[in-house]
Amino acid sequence: MIPWSLIDTAQIPGGEGALRLMRRGAEFSIMLGNNELMNSRLSGSEQALATLSYERIQSRGEPRILIGGLGMGFTLRAVLAVVSPKAQVVVAELVPAVVAWARGPMADLHGTSLTDARVSIRETDVGQLIHAAHASYDAILLDVDNGPEGLTRASNDSLYHLAGLRAAREALRPGGVLAVWSSGPDRAFTQRLHKVGFGVEEIKVRANGGRGGARHVIWIATRVDRRAAPAVRQ
Ligand SMILES: C[S@@+](CC[C@H](N)C(=O)[O-])C[C@H]1O[C@@H](n2cnc3c(N)ncnc32)[C@H](O)[C@@H]1O
Repeated sequence: MIPWSLIDTAQIPGGEGALRLMRRGAEFSIMLGNNELMNSRLSGSEQALATLSYERIQSRGEPRILIGGLGMGFTLRAVLAVVSPKAQVVVAELVPAVVAWARGPMADLHGTSLTDARVSIRETDVGQLIHAAHASYDAILLDVDNGPEGLTRASNDSLYHLAGLRAAREALRPGGVLAVWSSGPDRAFTQRLHKVGFGVEEIKVRANGGRGGARHVIWIATRVDRRAAPAVRQ
C-alpha cells in the first residue's frame, strides 16, 4: 500500500491548530490534529449540501450563493454544475493555504471551478461576510467544521449560536436557505434554528453518495417571512 506523505502545513488564522495536506497516490486528505476534515474519496454529502439547497431556490434565475469554506471544492463544483450562467457564487475560505493547495497540488481535482466567471474566492472568515450582508444571498452553505460547533477554531461556535443564526437569516433574501453540514445530529442546534424563525428540515445523507457507509446530516433552514395580518376594521 502507498504510504501517506505530508505535502504542506498551514496555521489556522485566529485558531490554535494547523491544517495538514496529505497525499497517498491520487488520494488527498486534509487533517486537523487527529481529525480528518476532508478526504478526496468521500464527497457525497458535500455535494448533497449543494444539490439539496439548490432544489429549494431553483426558480431564481440569478441566484447569489455564499459557500463557506472551500476545502476540496466538492460543494463548489456541485453548485456550479446546476446553477445558471448568471449565478454569482462567493466562496469564503479562512485558510489562505487551502486556496493555494486548490491551485497547486489539488489543481486537477478543482478543474476550472476556481476561474469560473461566476465564482469569486474570498480569503476570509465566512462569518464576516454573513454579518456584513443584508438580504443579499439566496443560499448560504456552511461546511466549515464537523458540525454545528467550532472544530476548525473555537470562534466558529458563533456561527451556530442564536446571534450567528440571526445574522444568517438577515443575510438571506426572503425564502432563501441556510444549509449546514454535520457529521451527525444535534437536537439543540435544530431547536435554535426554530427559535430564530427558520423553517427547518433535517436530512440524513450518505457520506459516499451511494448505499451503505456513514450517514451525515444536512439542515436546510428556510427564511420564512410571515406577513403581518391585515388590519381588521371595527
Ligand atoms: C470540511 S472543509 C469544506 C469541505 C467542502 N464542503 C468541500 O466540498 O470540499 C472545511 C473548510 O472550511 C474552512 N473554514 C473553517 N472555518 C472557516 C471560516 N470561519 N470561514 C471560512 N472558511 C472556514 C477550512 O479551512 C476548510 O477548508
